[in-house]
Amino acid sequence: MTQTKEKVSFRANPGAQEDFVKSQEPFPAFIGGFGAGKTIAGCLKAFGYTLSNPGAHGCITEPVSGMLADPLMETWRELFGEYEGNLWVERGRLGPNWQIEFPALGSHILLRSAETPGRLIGFKVAWAWMDEAAETEGGSQESAFLNLVPRRRQAGFGHWLGITTTSAGRDWLWRDWEDDPKKGHVLFKATSYDNPYLDKASLAETVSEYGEGTPLYRQRIMAEFAQLEGLVLPTFDPQTMIKPWPDTVFLSSIAGVDFAPQSPTTVVESSIDLSGRRWLREWLYERECDNETLFKACRAAMRAGVTLFVGDPSGKEQIRDMNRERIPTIAAPSNKILDRVKAWTKPIGENRLMVDKSSQFLIREVTGLTWAKKRGRLLETNEFSPLTPDHAVDAGAYALMQQNKMIIDWKPPEIGNW
Ligand SMILES: Nc1ncnc2c1ncn2[C@@H]1O[C@H](COP(=O)(O)OP(=O)(O)OP(=O)(O)O)[C@@H](O)[C@H]1O
Ligand SMILES: [Mg+2]
Repeated sequence: MTQTKEKVSFRANPGAQEDFVKSQEPFPAFIGGFGAGKTIAGCLKAFGYTLSNPGAHGCITEPVSGMLADPLMETWRELFGEYEGNLWVERGRLGPNWQIEFPALGSHILLRSAETPGRLIGFKVAWAWMDEAAETEGGSQESAFLNLVPRRRQAGFGHWLGITTTSAGRDWLWRDWEDDPKKGHVLFKATSYDNPYLDKASLAETVSEYGEGTPLYRQRIMAEFAQLEGLVLPTFDPQTMIKPWPDTVFLSSIAGVDFAPQSPTTVVESSIDLSGRRWLREWLYERECDNETLFKACRAAMRAGVTLFVGDPSGKEQIRDMNRERIPTIAAPSNKILDRVKAWTKPIGENRLMVDKSSQFLIREVTGLTWAKKRGRLLETNEFSPLTPDHAVDAGAYALMQQNKMIIDWKPPEIGNW
């Protein structure tokens, strides 16, 4: 039975959707809120590319094969149904060789599930598009992505591998597209509000269920890489615990140091003010850091009042080097993971921890650090996720634990009615 459908204009929405469709970069990603127009964007890009590159083959993935029927083929028909049978045909539906064929153009598009990345081998295409690439039910889709990269070697065509998805927090997409973008990786973002065709009433209902401003809202509606679960320091509240560095007298100023050959070496100060609050700020966050750079940062911290450095206890040589340079340094009481975490959670829980507003690396780590997650298991609490850096958090932890050791049970003076 055919229904008369309203005639919809299928031009890409101006902004992120259109920019993604038109992008010539090899690895474009369109991160969008629910209903932001992600699947439409991918279909438009795939169709447009095929029409202007006869003979070029492609591959589309959805997280699981059921989703190739709906939303993928549903959306494809919504857009290009009127050309079915003459321009394109669907073949092998639900089977291992499921594809969209363009007989007159000599092109085809393979339809595959990303959940079985081992099957994403043995074919040559010019392009690929992964829909809902952050979806993680069967494990991360990063291996599907990595398998698709070398599949794009059909000669004579410009190659691309595009991503459309809702964000799932600090994952591999965040790492390679937003935090430290790799070559050719470009990011386009659209919120659910950016799609004028999305039903406003149902969007409003979703927003009210999620709660405006909550991590879920920021992730699923506003297309931010907001982290929902597994945070190591979930009680750290950026709204109230990030402040400009105060102009005040401190009772104790010491700094923690985390040494690393390749990943950043970090120096983080912790200073206790007269009401017992710990103020933290970063002095150094430097990849492949040489000794001179480290010493320079420590001397600057000393001029600002830091009297003692507390290093990662496994960095014995570096601690010796620092003392030789007249930078007073001792080994931290512990580098066990739970001691490092407690050094933070205790003052946070007591509402006695503040982070300097301009310490951007430290802020990013404190708000983003998550526990490792192993496939098929619950969250680990003996390991941080390799995707979220802990260098500045660790340096801060060494300073905090040393201060706890030095000032036991210090209480602010009571100012009563005299
Ligand atoms: N450029 C466009 N022109 C017309 N309609 C559009 C356009 N982009 C999106 N839409 C409409 O908006 C709705 C949502 O689009 P789409 O399914 O692509 O969003 P999505 O981000 O993939 O959604 P989901 O989060 O459910 O996967 C669809 O009904 C679609 O037809
Ligand atoms: Mg979709």
